[in-house]
Amino acid sequence: MKTKDLPLLTSPLHGGALNQAINKYKNDKNPVPEKQWLDLSTGINPNGWSVPTIPASVYNRLPENDDGLIEAAQAYYQVSDILPVAGSQEAIQLLPEIFQRYGLLSENPRIGIISPCYAEHEFQWQKHQFTIIHLSSDSVDEMIDTLDVLVLINPNNPTGELIDKAVIKQWQVRLADHQAYLIIDEAFMDSTPQKSVLSVPDYEHRIVLRSVGKFFGLAGVRCGFVVATQKILSLLKYHQGPWSVSGPTRWVVTKALRDKAWIDDNKKYLQSASVRLENLLQHYLMHEHPQRLLAGTLLFKTLFLENAECLYEQLEKRGVLVRLLDNKKGLRFGLPASENQWQRLESVLDCI
Ligand SMILES: Cc1ncc(COP(=O)(O)O)c(C=O)c1O
Repeated sequence: MKTKDLPLLTSPLHGGALNQAINKYKNDKNPVPEKQWLDLSTGINPNGWSVPTIPASVYNRLPENDDGLIEAAQAYYQVSDILPVAGSQEAIQLLPEIFQRYGLLSENPRIGIISPCYAEHEFQWQKHQFTIIHLSSDSVDEMIDTLDVLVLINPNNPTGELIDKAVIKQWQVRLADHQAYLIIDEAFMDSTPQKSVLSVPDYEHRIVLRSVGKFFGLAGVRCGFVVATQKILSLLKYHQGPWSVSGPTRWVVTKALRDKAWIDDNKKYLQSASVRLENLLQHYLMHEHPQRLLAGTLLFKTLFLENAECLYEQLEKRGVLVRLLDNKKGLRFGLPASENQWQRLESVLDCI
């Protein structure tokens, strides 16, 4: 195929594109000053773990696997078999390739995904031409015996749905009965570790993804973890290659995972910030619209409404960037970072 004949490929959209939003309005008559913009378009903790000065040697040396990161992760997640990855996104990208290449699935595999959810899961399986079945948590029981892989995000982004780990365990057993796999993305689970499937130490046919981007607010360091059987972890490691997680990242994440006092304080902070956001949205956006629904996790709230695009634009024009759901039926709001930002959000909501 000639270069000019190559198809134009598009990838899923993500939150966090603040510069793009600012540029879109910069030629307006009275553009919102750059400093006043609020980026609420991600579910990242706006007051994440604060990174101390990193020693120069950490930048200068190659990363080493026995630097303490694995032990810190084993202690934090309370597991033994764990692999650091360059964000859980790296595992989301590698898993379909590995399943395909090593023939881990039946001949015409069907990948069930509880949807809507973080779009990268479906996108990466589709890249490898797998058949995708969209499911709701209610339709899993009916379909599970026909699936080769079941993918779910718990709690879900953007719906906030949290599935009980006892239910997930039953699904895992049914999938394992016909050699099928369960992939659970727990990127938003850190505030509620007691709800994590990791407390059920059964790795067979189960792959759990964790992220340090959300609760720890360390999205930029690109680090996450996979908990699975040694067989799956070694395939991931082989395909990831050496030094996938950088030295500075390993240094930062080791310290963050071991910072018990910060972790405990952060849970309390997120709890109260989440209630404040919920109250604010209820007051300004739901009071006169009882048919609208609000759901979410401690790190974000999703407002389900008709005509979400209209409200999205009203907010954006006033310098508040939120995430319009791909199906345009809702808006996801992240947490403001400071008292100033809370006030600013409130004043914008008040004039809509
Ligand atoms: C549900 C979910 N899983 C995984 C990711 C990827 O996170 P990371 O690669 O930063 O660990 C995201 C990012 O938004 C997400 O929302």
